Amino acid sequence: MNNRRGTRGSMTTRLTIAIDGPAASGKGTLARRLADYYHLPHLDTGLTYRAVGHALLTHGLPLDNLSAAETAARQVNLANLDRELLSAHDVAEAASKVAVYPTVRKILVDKQRAFAAQPGGAVLDGRDIGTVVCPDADVKLYVTASPEVRASRRLRDIQSRGGTADLTEILADIVRRDQRDVGRTDSPLRAASDAHLLDTSEMSIEAAFQAARSIIDAVLAKRDEA
Ligand code: DC
Repeated sequence: MNNRRGTRGSMTTRLTIAIDGPAASGKGTLARRLADYYHLPHLDTGLTYRAVGHALLTHGLPLDNLSAAETAARQVNLANLDRELLSAHDVAEAASKVAVYPTVRKILVDKQRAFAAQPGGAVLDGRDIGTVVCPDADVKLYVTASPEVRASRRLRDIQSRGGTADLTEILADIVRRDQRDVGRTDSPLRAASDAHLLDTSEMSIEAAFQAARSIIDAVLAKRDEA
């Protein structure tokens, strides 16, 4: 293997990595590190739902205005997703509300699949990547951690950026979003049957990265042998 993605003959092989998990599980950080390591483009699909929620909030439209949500979904430009702008708490809430609509999901999933179809492959993270968006991904990871650990991480993250927040409120918020993500009818959050589970409750980011890397490298090694 002369490249982190493996080779077959002289051709670098395609690699698609699907990462799913609940809010604040660390899947985004892991996805970015893996994309960097394997030299792959990365899409945080949560940002696409956030962009729709943000558009409705900005125009003062109710979050159950389906046709406005569909229009906003059509206008989502993957090359222009502003993580900072979309990171607000009310945008996250709005995203999980508009994400229940199958027609909104279909519009966004089509864009996500087009991203995943790039020649070298890609890393995508979200809630339904391994189950719906990229069911044929080469590697599927389901990243999770207990709600308490996720709430503490989120609090530390807010504090590190100079903000303040209440741990109990963050925990309640995480549990509420989990319920909405797991409970919706279309594409609920769940691990694909062939996903590798990574419970990061007691793992550092570095340990989670190393664990994910050994799973992916094992898949690549097997593929190189074939
Ligand atoms: O990952 P995130 O917190 O940015 O996601 C925001 C919301 O978007 C999440 O509560 C549910 C929705 N989402 C989804 O339904 N499917 C995805 N693939 C990604 C996010």
